[in-house]
This record gives sequence, structure tokens and C-alpha cells, in this order.
Amino acid sequence: MDTKISIIKDIHNDYKSIEEAASVIKKGGVVAFPTETVYGLGADGLNPLAVKKIFEAKGRPQDNPLIIHVANKNLESLVQEIPSIANEIMDRFWPGPLTLIFKKKDIIPNVTSANLDTIGVRMPSNEIALKLIESSGTPIAAPSANISGRPSPTDVERCIEDLEGKIEYILGGSRSDVGVESTILDLSVDPPCILRPGGITLEMLKEIDERIYIDPAIMKKNNENIKPKAPGMKYRHYAPKAKIKIINGNTEKTIEKIKDLLQNYIDNKLKVGVMTCDEHVKYYSNHVEIISLGSRKKLDEIAKNLFEALRSFDDKGVDIILAEGYQEKDLGIAIMNRLKKAAAYDILEV
Ligand code: TXA
Ligand code: MG
Repeated sequence: MDTKISIIKDIHNDYKSIEEAASVIKKGGVVAFPTETVYGLGADGLNPLAVKKIFEAKGRPQDNPLIIHVANKNLESLVQEIPSIANEIMDRFWPGPLTLIFKKKDIIPNVTSANLDTIGVRMPSNEIALKLIESSGTPIAAPSANISGRPSPTDVERCIEDLEGKIEYILGGSRSDVGVESTILDLSVDPPCILRPGGITLEMLKEIDERIYIDPAIMKKNNENIKPKAPGMKYRHYAPKAKIKIINGNTEKTIEKIKDLLQNYIDNKLKVGVMTCDEHVKYYSNHVEIISLGSRKKLDEIAKNLFEALRSFDDKGVDIILAEGYQEKDLGIAIMNRLKKAAAYDILEV
């Protein structure tokens, strides 16, 4: 399939490509597009045949539901009940990196919700995404625009890498600002439960209802007894080709341990990468591939650069990535959640 690629520099001058992409959506095709979290792979969320094409292009398991993207807060036609807390939460955090789960109406096809009776809805803040949804005149179902299992793309080049030839249209914009996927908050249960941590943090949501909590299953390795409530959280995910080991805890011990391990791997002729921060870059020798995610004092920078760093290590062909851990607080919860999944929970506490 020929993929049309159109990169928007200035939304006001390039409006034509949004219209073009919207006409692809209306005709049941698939379009990759920017959002503030990560790039999405979108189709008409109310058209089962269109939605099926997303699963095919991504190689996504059929039992993993999609979320739908809307351009306003009027959800009456899509969901059954809107609890009063939902209005407060939408007013505070929409548009933005927060997906809300509601009981769905029958208008949402079963392929979209993977046969669940609930649906995730998000109003993104990215201007191109909003205009695309508006022009399409339908909610856009969209998972992250990566091949299933790979780290989510945060810029258009990574979308092209994964999806050129597989979909009709790639709409490019600027780099994604948040860098990790949206927080998912289940409002079909009481108290509301966070199914995936993201840019809207637990601490921020607790200001609205202090009973809100994180699904305990998602910070742990999958086991038989507790399964995460978001189906997608059970898969190995965000994974580059290289193996990842996280070293977490006391700063000096972390650096010492990484240096130790490094030497060991190098002696065994492995190509090693270190994923560090601006503050610690100077401690590692230049015999290894080093990527800094930014300053430890700015967790939003760390989150923004995380997936791109994982993909860059693959480009460099490293066999193993040694990654420094972060404190599981605020945005650090989302960062560690993605890191742990990428590392298949190989984590060394020091
Ligand atoms: O930031 C984002 O959310 C991005 C951008 C493109 O909007 N989208 C995204 O979609 O990350 P995806 O499909 O990669 O992740 C959606 C997650 C999956 O883990 C899925 O299992 C879960 O949401 N999910 C979707 N619908 C659900 C539902 N009704 N109940 C529980 N979990 C659900
Ligand atoms: Mg995804």
C-alpha cells in the first residue's frame, strides 16, 4: 500500500492535509497522527471494518481494547452514564493526557472495545489531533502508532519506521510533549481506579477524590493471582530488541553497580548501553553507548525522552541496556511502570 506522508509545520497554513487525512478516516482508512502523549494510529471508532484495519496494521491481539478520541466533552451519545465526578475531572484535565473509562453504549462496536461493556475516551490537547477528529466527524479509535510490543513513537520518523506501507496516511506534527501514554482512570467503578499511570498523576487526581488509587497489579510482575484490569498492561511492552536491566535505589550505589556490571558485560564482548540522566553522565566511561534522558530534577523531560531513547539504543545495536531507576512518586510512577515493563521486571534494588 502507498502511504501518503504529510508533515505539518504550521497548522494554519497546512490545513489541507488535515482535511485529506480526515477524508481517509471517513472512508474507513487508517491514519497515524500526533498527540501530546505519543503518536496514535486512528480509524473511525464507530466503523468495525475500519477498526479491524488498526489491529492488522499493528499486529495487535484482538482481546486488547482501543480507546476513542473525541474533540469535545459531550459524551452522551457514546457512554451510558456519566458520574458527577466525571464532569469535574473532564473540566480540570481535558483536553489532556487522561483517558476515562465508562460503560459504553451499543453504538460502540465490539471490535473497538474488544467485547468489553466499557470504553476508554480521551480528548487530546494536540491541535492537529483535535482538528482531525473534528473534520472526521466521528470519534477516532487509536492505540499508540507502534508495531505491537515496540516502544510507542513520539515523533513522526518513528511512525514512518513502523507503519509506512501498512496504512493510507501518516500525518506528522511536532514531537509528543508528554512522551508516555495517557493516564487511564476507570470511572465505571467506585472508587475510581487508575489502570495505567501517565501524565496526569495519582497526586493530581487525588485532589478531586482522595479515594482514587492505582490498580495494585500494574506495578508488579504478572502472576496467576492478580491480573491488571487494563488488558494491554499484561503484555510485555515498550520493549526494544536489547535486554534491559534496571538498577534502582541509592545514587552512589546505583552508579557503582552499573560500572561493575558494565565491565562484566564488556569482558563478555557484549555491546552495552547506559540510560542515565544529565547529573550522572560524567560517571560513565565513553566505551559504552550513553544516553541521558535529561535532568533528574525534571521528570517531565525524562518521560518525554524515554521511548525515543529505547529506540535509539536499538539503532546503535546494543545487546543490553543498564537503566537507572527513578523514585515512584508523581510522574516517576509512570516512568518506572514503562521502564519495568520494557525490562520485563528485571530490576536490581541497591
Ligand atoms: O496516550 C494514549 O492513550 C495513546 C494516544 C494515541 O492517545 N493511546 C494509547 O492506546 O496508548 P493503547 O491502545 O496503546 O493503550 C490503551 C490501553 C491498553 O492497555 C488497553 O488495554 C487499555 O488502554 N484499555 C482500553 N480500553 C479499556 C477498557 N475499556 N477497560 C480497561 N482497559 C482498557
Ligand atoms: Mg500502546
